[in-house]
Amino acid sequence: MKKVRIGLLGCGVVGGGLCELIRRNRGVVADRTGLELEVQRVLVRDPRKERPVERSRVTTDAAAVLEAPDVDIVVEVIGGLEPAREYLARAIEAKKNVVTANKALLAARGAEIFRRAADRRVRIGFEASVCGGIPIIRAISAGLVGNRISALVGIVNGTCNYILTRMSEEKCTFAAALAEAQKRGFAEADPSLDIDGHDAAQKLQILAELAFGAELDHVPFPVEGIRLIEDEDIRAAAELGYVLKHIVVGKDLGDALDLRAHPALLPDVHPLAHVRNEFNSVLLRGDAVDEMIFTGKGAGSLPTASAVLSDIIDVSRNGHDHAEAVWHVPASPGRPVAADLESKYYLRFPIRDVPGVIGLIATALGNRGISISHASATLLPARPGHGNVKIVAHRCAESSLKKAVGEVERLPVLAGRAVVLRIFEEG
Ligand SMILES: NC(=O)c1ccc[n+]([C@@H]2O[C@H](COP(=O)([O-])OP(=O)(O)OC[C@H]3O[C@@H](n4cnc5c(N)ncnc54)[C@H](OP(=O)(O)O)[C@@H]3O)[C@@H](O)[C@H]2O)c1
Repeated sequence: MKKVRIGLLGCGVVGGGLCELIRRNRGVVADRTGLELEVQRVLVRDPRKERPVERSRVTTDAAAVLEAPDVDIVVEVIGGLEPAREYLARAIEAKKNVVTANKALLAARGAEIFRRAADRRVRIGFEASVCGGIPIIRAISAGLVGNRISALVGIVNGTCNYILTRMSEEKCTFAAALAEAQKRGFAEADPSLDIDGHDAAQKLQILAELAFGAELDHVPFPVEGIRLIEDEDIRAAAELGYVLKHIVVGKDLGDALDLRAHPALLPDVHPLAHVRNEFNSVLLRGDAVDEMIFTGKGAGSLPTASAVLSDIIDVSRNGHDHAEAVWHVPASPGRPVAADLESKYYLRFPIRDVPGVIGLIATALGNRGISISHASATLLPARPGHGNVKIVAHRCAESSLKKAVGEVERLPVLAGRAVVLRIFEEG
């Protein structure tokens, strides 16, 4: 039996879950892998808190974990950029294999960290950084490694998906759904990273780098969140046969990549339309396997610990001799992100109720070459003389749509900001 002595950096939601999972499944893991897992040292900020490990193993001294001769593998579940980056660098320097769940760090400094690891012939596991318990990193980098992946679309932020599911099923407002998500532990006290789309964008960056072999640190792409979504739009989407979701899209266009994270209307029959609550799902298209879908819990203590544990085992089994790491640093320079792509759109214009208002809006859109497949006007019972015009626009370039919406917003009949949402109809 080979002993694996773990140096754990952080013992919060994920670190605590890992200790619990190792305690629960140590025997199963030993039977299946021949590895005997031991949580040797645990770095925390506050040594007085109750932890699911013996107090004697807890320290506030980073060197006591990073440079300890009796630690074989360092697991970083602190989060954030610093000191997590510094600690990973020190572990790599000390020639220890590392596992991290830190998508923010990998999205910001991944290329640098992986290059350093390759130089030092050290392996890095990062399965838990994207979609918690779903083994999507391993699926792309091992199971599907013989495929050219042409596209991926995913629901990768459980907080957004939970909020949009509650708004749709309970007919509640964004604020009420967010408060419920926070109460149930699906959203942070400061939920900005999630609801403004940045967490999903970090995960898309990691998935796209793996799937398309491109280095994307500091490559900007369009990111929108769900903060401004109103129950009115969720209802309208349902009436039109769509479900509103926050999605990430990555496509290999050859010379460029299409990368984006935004809310979108999915047709009711789309495979991702019925992924509910805090669940995540990623649909991939490979040239050999065709379409594959991976669905499961994208966050939480034990689901995320499951991914960390699988990395610990993978990295420990393969050891230092397989220094290619789980990630192959792409040799080619990054590819540009394509701009001004075409899409179908759902538009909602808050209006004052005057005769001919739909005609005025349709004319402004038509002047920019944008044709429409649906237009309807409804009045607001609570606000006499006001209402909404809702439009489904055929495929058009984003730049034309923006100009047309700008013109509509300057019409005197407009009573507020236009809502513009993409309609995503691809598989
Ligand atoms: N939570 C999830 O569902 C989930 C899912 C996927 C990925 N992740 C990723 O996993 C990582 C950890 O998330 P988490 O939810 O477990 O965070 P968390 O509950 O806030 O735990 C963070 C842990 O790190 C320790 N820590 C923080 N700063 C430290 C410092 N400067 N020195 C030493 N220890 C420090 C904290 O110590 P104290 O306990 O003493 O405060 C705590 O034990 C993040 O990168 C996150 O993005 C989380």
